[in-house]
Amino acid sequence: MGVTGISVPMPVALITGASTGIGNALAKELARRGWAVGLVARRAELLAGLCDEIRGAGGKAAFAAADVTDRAAIRAAAERLAVELGPIDLMVANAGSGDPGNASTVPVDAWMGTLRLNIDGVIYSVAAVLPEMVARRAGHLAVVSSVAGFRGLPGMAAYSASKACVTTFFESLRLDLKGVGVAVTAIHPGFIATPLTARNKNPMPFLISAERAATIIADGLEARRSDVTFPWQMKLLMAFARRLPNWLWDKALGRARPSGPTAS
Ligand SMILES: NC(=O)c1ccc[n+]([C@@H]2O[C@H](COP(=O)([O-])OP(=O)(O)OC[C@H]3O[C@@H](n4cnc5c(N)ncnc54)[C@H](OP(=O)(O)O)[C@@H]3O)[C@@H](O)[C@H]2O)c1
Repeated sequence: MGVTGISVPMPVALITGASTGIGNALAKELARRGWAVGLVARRAELLAGLCDEIRGAGGKAAFAAADVTDRAAIRAAAERLAVELGPIDLMVANAGSGDPGNASTVPVDAWMGTLRLNIDGVIYSVAAVLPEMVARRAGHLAVVSSVAGFRGLPGMAAYSASKACVTTFFESLRLDLKGVGVAVTAIHPGFIATPLTARNKNPMPFLISAERAATIIADGLEARRSDVTFPWQMKLLMAFARRLPNWLWDKALGRARPSGPTAS
């Protein structure tokens, strides 16, 4: 309750992929900053534990287990969280993954699975909250893309393509939604220490913790920046890499072999 007697509602953030890694750390960071957080992922037991942890620290949280590739399920989860916490002010489409596989083995099922999760899952998450944001002429959409979307990485065809896709998708959203008061942010992390990268045996330059990533992301979201690319060393490296001619990119990356679940 403020000094005027008018209570100020907490801003509400819905985060997909909140059960582990970046989403989990971001939920805790936003809750610490005074956001009510709605947690979505498939593993209900992990979400319940995170909810308890946030509430135990004095924060406000609720969860709804859902598979983001199921359009009806993510819509129902968003509706339930909006009833529990209030209208969604910020939606972070963070759920995502990617398995490595050399194109010569034609891993079509793995490719399609990655595209479904990283593209369909993001679009369905946007569709679950955007109608209400447009109606209220307020809100903020964010996606956790990756620096892996800036150029095609070896063994990561579907992952790199999916991240390039959502980055471009969000760029168009930004232009379309400017006039209706909905902000749009594309987040491009480099290597972050999470369960996704834990099995990666390749070198991971400029690796940072999920907690550090969450702080950087939360700062960018609260400033409503359109792009959050980090850490700065990776941002610089990828700005350079994007400008390399193909023959030089191929020479630099041609012999690299991914050994973990994802390159970045
Ligand atoms: N770690 C990195 O270096 C890095 C770098 C750049 C970008 N990213 C991106 O950051 C995001 C988070 O990755 P992370 O590193 O934090 O990995 P993570 O710890 O494996 O987290 C992935 C999250 O996505 C959820 N998820 C997976 N499939 C889902 C589905 N079908 N429906 C709902 N939720 C689903 C998982 O929860 P459940 O299994 O409980 O559903 C989990 O909470 C991903 O989009 C990833 O591509 C990561």
